[in-house]
Amino acid sequence: MMTAMNPLHRLPLPSIAGLLVLVVFCNSCAHVQRLSQPTTTVELRCDDLANPLGIDDTQPRLSWKIQSTARDERQTAYRLLVASTADALARDSGDLWDSGEVKSDQSILVAYAGQPLLSFSRCFWKVQVWDKDGNQSPWSETARWSIGLLHSSDWQAKWIGLDGPKKRAKPDDRRLPSRYLRKEFNLEKPLQRATVSICGLGIFELQLNGGKIGDHVLEPALSEYDKRAFYETFDVTPQLRSGANAIGVILGNGRFFGPRPPGGTTTFGYPKLFLQLDIDYADGTKGQVVSDESWKITTNGPICANNEYDGEEYDATREMKGWSEAGFDDSAWQSAQIVSPGSPHLAAQMIPPMKVIETIHPVSMIHHTNYIYDLQGGHLEHITTNDIYIYDMGQNIVGWCRLTADGPTGVTITLRYAETLAADGSLYTKNLRTAKATDTYTMRHSGEETFEPTFIYHGFRYVEVTGYLVEPTISNLVGCVVHDDLPSTGEFSCSNPTLNQIAHNIYWGTRGNYRSMPTDCPQRDERQGWTGDRSEESKGESFLFDVSAFYSKWLQDLHDGQRDSGSLPDVAPAFWTVYRNGVSWASTYLILSHALYDQYGDLRPIQAHYDSAKKWIDYITRFMTNGIIATNTYGDWCVPPASPLEIHSKDPARNTAGALISTAYFYRDLGLMARSAKLLGKSADERRFKKMASAVKEAFNHRFLNSETGRYSNGTQTSSALALGDGLSPNNDEEQKTFNQLVNHIETTTDGHIGTGVIGCQWLMRDLSNHGRIDLAYRIATQTTYPSWGYMAQKGATTIWELWNGDTADPAMNSGNHVMLIGDLNIWLFEYLGGIRPDPSAPGFKKIIIQPEPCGDLTWAKATHESPYGTIATDWKRANGQFTLNVDIPANSSAIVILPSGATRHIGSGHYEFNEQTKNAQ
Ligand code: BGC
Repeated sequence: MMTAMNPLHRLPLPSIAGLLVLVVFCNSCAHVQRLSQPTTTVELRCDDLANPLGIDDTQPRLSWKIQSTARDERQTAYRLLVASTADALARDSGDLWDSGEVKSDQSILVAYAGQPLLSFSRCFWKVQVWDKDGNQSPWSETARWSIGLLHSSDWQAKWIGLDGPKKRAKPDDRRLPSRYLRKEFNLEKPLQRATVSICGLGIFELQLNGGKIGDHVLEPALSEYDKRAFYETFDVTPQLRSGANAIGVILGNGRFFGPRPPGGTTTFGYPKLFLQLDIDYADGTKGQVVSDESWKITTNGPICANNEYDGEEYDATREMKGWSEAGFDDSAWQSAQIVSPGSPHLAAQMIPPMKVIETIHPVSMIHHTNYIYDLQGGHLEHITTNDIYIYDMGQNIVGWCRLTADGPTGVTITLRYAETLAADGSLYTKNLRTAKATDTYTMRHSGEETFEPTFIYHGFRYVEVTGYLVEPTISNLVGCVVHDDLPSTGEFSCSNPTLNQIAHNIYWGTRGNYRSMPTDCPQRDERQGWTGDRSEESKGESFLFDVSAFYSKWLQDLHDGQRDSGSLPDVAPAFWTVYRNGVSWASTYLILSHALYDQYGDLRPIQAHYDSAKKWIDYITRFMTNGIIATNTYGDWCVPPASPLEIHSKDPARNTAGALISTAYFYRDLGLMARSAKLLGKSADERRFKKMASAVKEAFNHRFLNSETGRYSNGTQTSSALALGDGLSPNNDEEQKTFNQLVNHIETTTDGHIGTGVIGCQWLMRDLSNHGRIDLAYRIATQTTYPSWGYMAQKGATTIWELWNGDTADPAMNSGNHVMLIGDLNIWLFEYLGGIRPDPSAPGFKKIIIQPEPCGDLTWAKATHESPYGTIATDWKRANGQFTLNVDIPANSSAIVILPSGATRHIGSGHYEFNEQTKNAQ
């Protein structure tokens, strides 16, 4: 079973193999000799993070990369030193841990095994390795981590805030004024170190002595607040001074006050703060400043209203100069209230923070003039002129705009955001539904001022600016691109411009949907972590960003949302309480744990979630009758409809039976559970899941397969794609028949176009390629007519749409920036065209499969992937009957290279070039 899980299960490319006559395998002829440099260790990571502060993992895993220009370089041993001070480490003392020389090639996720780590422990570390010849590398640079507050007794802080107004002015009044909180304190002795641990819900900005601390935005990370909230740790030693100091915190709504369930106004409560400043004086004594009733609070600051979806109102005339500095007169402020806890549990935030990652400049600004008339005494009289400026960012982005403006006191400038324009050139906002996506800025004084919102974000390409009294220029607005600061991991490009534009759209869509959880969309009144959108698709994201920590955190969100019954939420964190037990959405819990294992070699997610996954399997089994699970909520969500206006097709021939989808997914889940059990050494469980899986497979085929034709149910592309992707066919003959069904459907019914929604497209490209029809996958991928990714690009999309007909369908559910329809396309670009795949037998790219597959009219393609071991790169071209492939393999990993002819070669690290001849002209 599970044939598709073995990536070596690719048939020998019948359609291409026929074109090959002569294969010359000559990796040595173009052998690039490089001068050998000493091996070094770089990019030290602790729990996948660079120098994290305040973690709550006392056995963090340490990783490093080995840099070497030599071929076949391998680590044969390592030594780790962990010290409690930088000085001790510099003296090569590992007072916390000296691993000694460990004979091992493990260079990722080595679990700390030194002295027990306590709250506030500070750890400085370095590593050295021995190469394949036994040469010792120099010590790495020093890296660090620190432990946060492990026990509730470590916290002396109290939750503070202002619970009110008790009643909202209007039921949909979701735009609270920001809370400003402040506290002064004195430092009377020389300081050694000061650390702030802070959780401000929904969103906080921390200031000290008049300046913002750090460059994080929209923090802390979203969580299942009823279970946990995250705190962050900042080293504020440089910001403190002797004598009088002041801390200031601004609190925004975030999802805590405004989780935005459909039609509802439920809330977790008013914004609140929990903060502790721990001070270590140079003389060894300690001090503390904590949030409590001695703090002052006001809602009369310049952020008069904020809501993540609706926007921010900033009135600069209300600015309170010096409010986060000592000596500010806060006599008009109230005392902070002690309020109920924001969450029963505070956990360290262990994902990269959100930041303004990039700024971009608009590509155009168009001036529209609205002449406003009124009927006066029987004739129309010109009352006023309204100047509207529409800026085009040239790219659908997520974040906000930085506005520079010049105007008299009290003038308000309004910024409205949208993804597209209506036919008359005005903003098209219907698809934002109730999200107002509007920021206002009221000027403080004459002269140039800059405004940037704090507690909101929008998904947009166009910005409408009104209220500007003098004509603005294009440089008055800058777009700020905001998302989790996840390291980039790779790029793909090729000779086909449509595919390059699609790859661009995938990249921008993916980055725009990271808001400390993966969101479905960034613009309308939804922006939720829908699980089904990230099933196989999430694996493709790992080729663009390092999502290891990010998705480990989201698995925790899913776990936190699990009900006692075992039911998993469709949305995590469950800000929308949707528990529909449809199998396919919740399966992401298992699929993602395994993707993290395959892509990063990290077994911990599988381990940590094994029991809850098992609980979910047991729960879902209750919905099974005779091996079939009929419950399914969303079907093959967003299948391309025939009508340009429809969101969901009503055509039964296009839709796939819910029971088929649920049962196929459940079969996959059981296979994943069997694999988990095997990896964890739980052989009884493994046997049990395998047995269940084979019963489900039999029932599935009994119920849905027409063994004469190989057709499943009504023969949609999705029904075939699932059966093939999940290895559900009873035997090879049936599998071939089903594959023929799929090909026939694509070639005749949909004329070389995709015919699936979000379910089928998670598997389609790989199914076709694994069964020898990568040419057909390529045809689908490069189409520019409806429905296709190229059609979106042709219509001007710079991200991926929610609907195949996103240009014409009803705006009620029509986002211009959704990732779900990417399906397995990005996996395919990197793994099949670029040819870079992890070998699951040695996950995390310890072993790599290099198998680029030239197809269609492609003449070249390149891909890079920053794996846990370092950069993997492929670069191939074909011309004049010659195929040339350049490959880079990082030290301490190895690869099998499979050329288009089928010839294979095992290589170690280093740079290689391969050539072979092909029969066709290309
Ligand atoms: C979301 C989707 C989600 C779906 C499930 C939509 O509104 O945008 O991405 O998977 O609902 O019902």
